[in-house]
Amino acid sequence: MRFAVSVLAALAGFSAAAATPAGLITEPVAGTSISTGASIPFNYVDSNWCNEGYTPITIWLSDSAPTGLNATGQLPEGTYIEYFGYYLIGNYGLGPLPGYSVPPTNVTIPDISGYSSGFPLFLSVVETAGPESCPPGNGAPAQYRFTSVSLVVA
Ligand SMILES: *[C@@H]1O[C@H](CO)[C@@H](O)[C@H](O)[C@H]1NC(C)=O
Ligand SMILES: *[C@@H]1O[C@H](CO)[C@@H](O)[C@H](O)[C@H]1NC(C)=O
Repeated sequence: MRFAVSVLAALAGFSAAAATPAGLITEPVAGTSISTGASIPFNYVDSNWCNEGYTPITIWLSDSAPTGLNATGQLPEGTYIEYFGYYLIGNYGLGPLPGYSVPPTNVTIPDISGYSSGFPLFLSVVETAGPESCPPGNGAPAQYRFTSVSLVVA
């Protein structure tokens, strides 16, 4: 599985030196045409690199591909157009956790009328491994990884 993920990352154009990839945004696919108010399909397959029961993700839209996250694992203020929310993916067949939402199957594009036709926008997912979930366990901080797919303004 690790190997498969690396190969996909290589195909996606990441260099071997890049940080370990997050999971995969399987929908929307790259190049999807978007317009204000459109609902587009969403699906993310988590990496779950520290083997947790539940994987928190956040979903974002921005006009440049994110290059980094802030200290709380979010796209820094002023670098995104829309925050689509915080969701928990259940792993190993676990059902939804009370009080948390599972990821949506679609997202609605906000007002992007200020962007001209052909302009690329980026849908990104940040995946979190919780504090103490990754080695060495005790005292380990949360870890964050992110991935993006480019969309095109209609
Ligand atoms: C990180 O970014 C989010 C969203 O932009 C913001 O709400 C939060 O305050 C930021 N956290 C830090 C530590 O700057
Ligand atoms: C969009 O996603 C929401 C939340 O997952 C769901 O309730 C709704 O039925 C979906 N709509 C379509 C058209 O798939």
